[in-house]
Amino acid sequence: MKGKVVVITGATSGIGEVAAVQLAAMGGRLVLVARDRARGQATLARLRDAGPDASHTAYYADLSRVAEMKRVAAEIAAAEPRIDVLINNAGALFGSRQVTPDGLEFTFATNHVAYFVLTHGLRDRLAATAGARVVNTSSDAHKGNRLDFNDLQSASGYSGFKVYGRSKLANILYTRELARRLAGTGVTANCLHPGFVDTRFGDHSGGFLAVAVKAAKTFAISPEKGAKTIVYLASSDDVVKVTGKYFYKCREAVPTPEAQDDDAARRLWQETEKLTGIKFAPVAATAETRG
Ligand SMILES: NC(=O)c1ccc[n+]([C@@H]2O[C@H](COP(=O)([O-])OP(=O)(O)OC[C@H]3O[C@@H](n4cnc5c(N)ncnc54)[C@H](OP(=O)(O)O)[C@@H]3O)[C@@H](O)[C@H]2O)c1
Repeated sequence: MKGKVVVITGATSGIGEVAAVQLAAMGGRLVLVARDRARGQATLARLRDAGPDASHTAYYADLSRVAEMKRVAAEIAAAEPRIDVLINNAGALFGSRQVTPDGLEFTFATNHVAYFVLTHGLRDRLAATAGARVVNTSSDAHKGNRLDFNDLQSASGYSGFKVYGRSKLANILYTRELARRLAGTGVTANCLHPGFVDTRFGDHSGGFLAVAVKAAKTFAISPEKGAKTIVYLASSDDVVKVTGKYFYKCREAVPTPEAQDDDAARRLWQETEKLTGIKFAPVAATAETRG
């Protein structure tokens, strides 16, 4: 990873923070996207300890707000001529339905729309970098779910875990469609399940859900174990040419049939374009990436 630029969200906690520290220790230069300055500075201090030779940086944005996602992507794109790895990892679980000022349900906004908008904003920098990779944190929680295109904002019958599961299904469908659209540019896109990990995940979900997740964490693996597949997809030579796949424990895994539905992937993409006002134009490969 020496000299490589890694943009990562959700690195102020949990598996994202462990992955960022490990990638910094491997020589990467980390660019964080965080929402809280104190937490961002604390992670930066850990990155400087792990990888003192690189000047790691942090940008601040609330990834549930479309304008903030667009702004932070534009700031990073202006500062970084090349990006080797983009890790979309920030995510959350909400016990009760809440709607952002953009009119998006919070889980959908944070866990899916942020991945789409940030990747779109950085696509030219990725395409300008030979062997660039997008790594999206998903989850086995996608199992048993299908998207409801008549109710993507979960206005009816909200259940926190079901809506979370759908957002993680969206991560897999998004990764497949992104890989398809990036074909020929040299940029790969893969996603992963980290396992059930003892992080801050679920702590602020509220009500019964927070209690249930806390109790279940007795059986969870460590953030160090949970981060392994992120680090693998971001750095391993094994996956240089692999794209559009779902991984667990550093191996390709098979997601549910609903997560392999390319019509649903295309439709989700189109709906997300409408919701964000973004038109994802074809990305041109540069001489470097073609070479
Ligand atoms: N833990 C598990 O068992 C598990 C299993 C499968 C998948 N995952 C996935 O793994 C990813 C990371 O979760 P984790 O377990 O490491 O949880 P975590 O410890 O709660 O970390 C979540 C990270 O996302 C950031 N974040 C959340 N909402 C944000 C927002 N609106 N704007 C900017 N940043 C935001 C958090 O920032 P703050 O520090 O400011 O809160 C934090 O850095 C998520 O996508 C989650 O769905 C987790």
